[in-house]
Amino acid sequence: MLGEESTSADYWEKCGQAALRHGVKHIIIMGAHWSALNDEIQVSMNPNPGKDPIGGVHPRWYKDYKLIPDLPMGEHVIQLLRDSGFNAKPNKSCVWIHDIYTLIIRMFPGGNMPPTTVLSTNARYDPHFHMRMGMALRSLRSRPDVLLMGTGGAVHNLYRNVWGPIVKYNDNFAQEVPPANWALNFRQEFEDAVMKNSGPALRRAVVSLMKLPDFRDAHATDDHFIAACFCAGLVGHEDDVGAPVEFGAETWELGNMCNDQYTFGSWEAFPVAC
Ligand SMILES: [Fe+2]
Repeated sequence: MLGEESTSADYWEKCGQAALRHGVKHIIIMGAHWSALNDEIQVSMNPNPGKDPIGGVHPRWYKDYKLIPDLPMGEHVIQLLRDSGFNAKPNKSCVWIHDIYTLIIRMFPGGNMPPTTVLSTNARYDPHFHMRMGMALRSLRSRPDVLLMGTGGAVHNLYRNVWGPIVKYNDNFAQEVPPANWALNFRQEFEDAVMKNSGPALRRAVVSLMKLPDFRDAHATDDHFIAACFCAGLVGHEDDVGAPVEFGAETWELGNMCNDQYTFGSWEAFPVAC
């Protein structure tokens, strides 16, 4: 999912091109790999962000892509978060990590990325805290030039991936046996939470996923789940009851890791958050 072609990567490009067609000028994104300690949230305010290298992927794929940070929007996001009581701080030296820039490169392969604001998570990984972060930024959905995103994974446990085939075939999509039942079960719970709920029920369903018996098998650490709570906060208001959601693509890799792509809202009726 980092450098390879996949149906998910195709979907990201489709979303990116739709965003450009619809006049998106700002992206705001929460990833999985950057977290702040204690009660802090950090916002990328590095005017010239570098890229954290990706293991196993040749740098030629990403090293020359020019990342464009959105410092004015970053200031605005910090203020919105502070207005909602969060301890939000600028970070002027952070590098961007592959969960952010591989998505950006896939979405905008021509190098024409909209200026982007990267949000950290909080390392306590409280689902309600991250849901409230989404609520704090929800007003930005009324702006047609803003696209809000969260990245992580529906099932993401590096300890329980099947690593043999990538060594044997140099192919992380090689699937010698089906995914394990715990992975399939949690993936289905995730889909049901997202696709069968809207409005406040969506928020409840998504944060409740962390309480399921299969959660700790599906996520050995909470980092790749928590942006889903941020997205639920963005799109789980009373006004969002009945709002459309699209299950755009699914890519399994390394045996038990499930990467699902959802888009909430539509370009026609609602501002969109991927
Ligand atoms: Fe990751």
